[in-house]
Amino acid sequence: MLQDKQAALVTGANRGIGYELAKQLALAGFKVMLTSRDPKKGSEAAQRLAESGLDVSFVLMDVTDQESIRQAALTVKETAHRLDVLINNAGVYLDGSAKLLAMDPAILERTMSTNFFGVYHVMRSFLPLMEKRGYGRIINVSSEYGAMNAMSSSGAGAYKISKLAMNALTRLAAAEVTGDIKIYAVDPGWVSSDMGGPSAPRTPKRAAELILRLATMGSEGARVEFFRDGKPIDW
Ligand SMILES: NC(=O)c1ccc[n+]([C@@H]2O[C@H](COP(=O)([O-])OP(=O)(O)OC[C@H]3O[C@@H](n4cnc5c(N)ncnc54)[C@H](OP(=O)(O)O)[C@@H]3O)[C@@H](O)[C@H]2O)c1
Repeated sequence: MLQDKQAALVTGANRGIGYELAKQLALAGFKVMLTSRDPKKGSEAAQRLAESGLDVSFVLMDVTDQESIRQAALTVKETAHRLDVLINNAGVYLDGSAKLLAMDPAILERTMSTNFFGVYHVMRSFLPLMEKRGYGRIINVSSEYGAMNAMSSSGAGAYKISKLAMNALTRLAAAEVTGDIKIYAVDPGWVSSDMGGPSAPRTPKRAAELILRLATMGSEGARVEFFRDGKPIDW
């Protein structure tokens, strides 16, 4: 049976920006699937939100594991029967201060596997649920490090390439979808999560607020856009 309530899924939502997104989507009235690669951390995070009365359930999904993504898509199809909002939030930043050509290539491969191929496989697996109803909002959590001009300075090379590729994927996917499906890339700013560290000026709550606006955009806007500080920018 088709649910009336809009459904949203967030990857890597057991902590940081993803957790705040799951919370705010539920507060905005969505049925939320909080996904995590870790069953304990994911189910505890979802339980915390559900205990405060929010419609949040846990779905296991490791974005580097195609079988795990396939299972998660099946679960969403069978339980929510629809997907209105997909937020590709899961990400890793593994470079530290290593130089791209001197680092262990496994760092680049692992980074691409999560930040780029993860997004690719998740979109491929969940898009059919959106296309069936001709509606969807996909938000890829990117970074200013993924802008082409960020490639001119050394540092964070693996992370930068992964987000640049994610931005390209965002545009290419938008050129392929039909119906009222929009795909956005968004820079959340420098955020005080485990990844951003304690000195970051923006809270996960504020970052999630800016991202959430895109999840509820009307049909009038462009099919694809890159947002920073809540505004579309050239990329
Ligand atoms: N913080 C910033 O300043 C900043 C700036 C620009 C962009 N971003 C982007 O914002 C997004 C969220 O970052 P954050 O700051 O909230 O980072 P975070 O606190 O480090 O959280 C990252 C989340 O991604 C999950 N994750 C990592 N690999 C995964 C995988 N293979 N499958 C599923 N989940 C996985 C982590 O799960 P575990 O707990 O299991 O590790 C965690 O839940 C990322 O895409 C990041 O690149 C952040």
